[in-house]
Amino acid sequence: MVQNENFFLENKPLFSGKIREIFNYSEDKLIIKTSDKISAFDFVFDDEIPSKGKLLTKIAKFWFDKTKHIIKNHILDDSMLTSVNPEISESCLVVKKCKPIRIEAIVRGYISGSAYNQYVKDGMVSNIKMEDGLKLNDKLETPIFTPSTKAEVGEKDENITFDEMMNIIGEEKASYIKNKSVELYKFAHEYALRKGLCLIDTKFEFGCDNNGDVILIDEIFTPDCSRYCLAKDISNQDVEFFDKQFFRNYLKEIKWNETQITIPEKIKNIIISRYEKVYLMLIDE
Ligand SMILES: Nc1ncnc2c1ncn2[C@@H]1O[C@H](COP(=O)(O)OP(=O)(O)OP(=O)(O)O)[C@@H](O)[C@H]1O
Ligand SMILES: [Mg+2]
Repeated sequence: MVQNENFFLENKPLFSGKIREIFNYSEDKLIIKTSDKISAFDFVFDDEIPSKGKLLTKIAKFWFDKTKHIIKNHILDDSMLTSVNPEISESCLVVKKCKPIRIEAIVRGYISGSAYNQYVKDGMVSNIKMEDGLKLNDKLETPIFTPSTKAEVGEKDENITFDEMMNIIGEEKASYIKNKSVELYKFAHEYALRKGLCLIDTKFEFGCDNNGDVILIDEIFTPDCSRYCLAKDISNQDVEFFDKQFFRNYLKEIKWNETQITIPEKIKNIIISRYEKVYLMLIDE
């Protein structure tokens, strides 16, 4: 039982991802504890951003609930965490133990980030031929699915084509994941727009539960795994990103040399206030 915060002192995580620690709770349940760490370019920084873990957890919970009519997800009742200090419990999720499918399911509704860089080079994104004349952050006629492999901690994810994804996990699972990913993206894009936010692109993870069903796991539509901006700003060339892109841009600006740094207070404050703004805009009635 999770009686109090000692659970997290007495139990070692089963494993640790870049940002999350995964604890075994029972035969079929895990507790995912999201830290205040930030990663960028597949590098995890030691310096932390206070409250980030709680905010990511709140945003993921919000979206898991809003999208449960589209696909089953790993969220379970977490009332047994009530005796734990809110500082800890608010950054925890109780989830179904699943076998992760080692693919990142990426959907893009706009041409941004690394997809734009590839488009400028060869007119393609993944192996999809794109229309001519697209500018940075332009909306695509229909959202595209551009999967990548999910690397182990310390390794880099690699973009793959949908055909390669089918070879890795089989045609049926690959098509199911692609279709559900696009459906989830379209739903959330429309929802976010009504709240004044533009969901530019996003990444999902899926896993197999013990019935063999493919369900949604990890996090969903958080500013760590999605690009957001204010809807009114999407056509500005110097759009302000309300997600990790702001931090990536900062690292480029300071010509970061892939070593640990102390993140300036000012930068931490901007990151956390933007993540908070995304949450507040989403829950606004
Ligand atoms: N329900 C679940 N069952 C089993 N494993 C899960 C479940 N939900 C998430 N996971 C796994 O927990 C880990 C969470 O790790 P975390 O998000 O910190 O880093 P990461 O996924 O390795 O990196 P990044 O998110 O930057 O790509 C991932 O390996 C993910 O596949
Ligand atoms: Mg993750």
